[in-house]
Amino acid sequence: MTSLTFSPAPATSLYERWYRHFIENRDAPRAFPWHDSSSLSAAERKLVARSIQQFQLGEWARGRGLRRRASSHPVLSSDPWFLPALELFIAEEQGHSGILGRFLDRERIPRLTSHWVDGIFRRLRKLAGLELCAMVLVTAEVLAIPFYQALRDATRSRLLRAICVRILCDEAAHLNYQALTLGLARRPLRDRARAIWYLCHSILFNGTALLLWFQHRRVFRAAGRDFRRFWIDCRRGFALLQERIRRASLDHLDELRLD
Ligand SMILES: [Fe+2]
Ligand SMILES: [Fe+2]
Repeated sequence: MTSLTFSPAPATSLYERWYRHFIENRDAPRAFPWHDSSSLSAAERKLVARSIQQFQLGEWARGRGLRRRASSHPVLSSDPWFLPALELFIAEEQGHSGILGRFLDRERIPRLTSHWVDGIFRRLRKLAGLELCAMVLVTAEVLAIPFYQALRDATRSRLLRAICVRILCDEAAHLNYQALTLGLARRPLRDRARAIWYLCHSILFNGTALLLWFQHRRVFRAAGRDFRRFWIDCRRGFALLQERIRRASLDHLDELRLD
């Protein structure tokens, strides 16, 4: 990871603090109880194995399309810290996949090499420009939060709970990071175009949330979430994200905190 260290000339940069955040997060000690001798019970394994397999696959290599599109975006590419921060963000997502993969290996649950949901999302991200690519990515990020919260609450495994807590901390920051990118990408747009993007995002989000529920509802139910509670949590996350995007697009960046 040391190859990611970057020192451009001093400049006023919106992404410099994100670069520093990802570096600090990467280098912070992460103590997972890997040596805890207990493992998943047969019932737990049946409940969570498929869901962890899917998320382990989905967390891998996110952001390649975003990197390519952002390199030619007039606003984002002008910030010398944008691409170095993006590289670290992608590495952090890959780290999530790595931790989940190690957990699967430890539990002797095979890793998936493909899944139709993952395939749809990867194809969607390749369809169009930066806005759509970032929108698809951030949709998965917002919905990952209620999923990992439910996974944490559905298991008695100390190790799996610790992994979920770590990922949840990272993902909470990712929402602000992605809101900044989407907000900057929307700055040149008129109100009507922003309203159309909002509508498209809402449709994509609702469809993806429904898919998440149908694919992983047993985990949510085991954690005590019925569909109503799940939907309220998802829509709350979406509203928060949209507010942060709006602030970033209006240059209210002081309110976009890292934590
Ligand atoms: Fe992640
Ligand atoms: Fe994330």
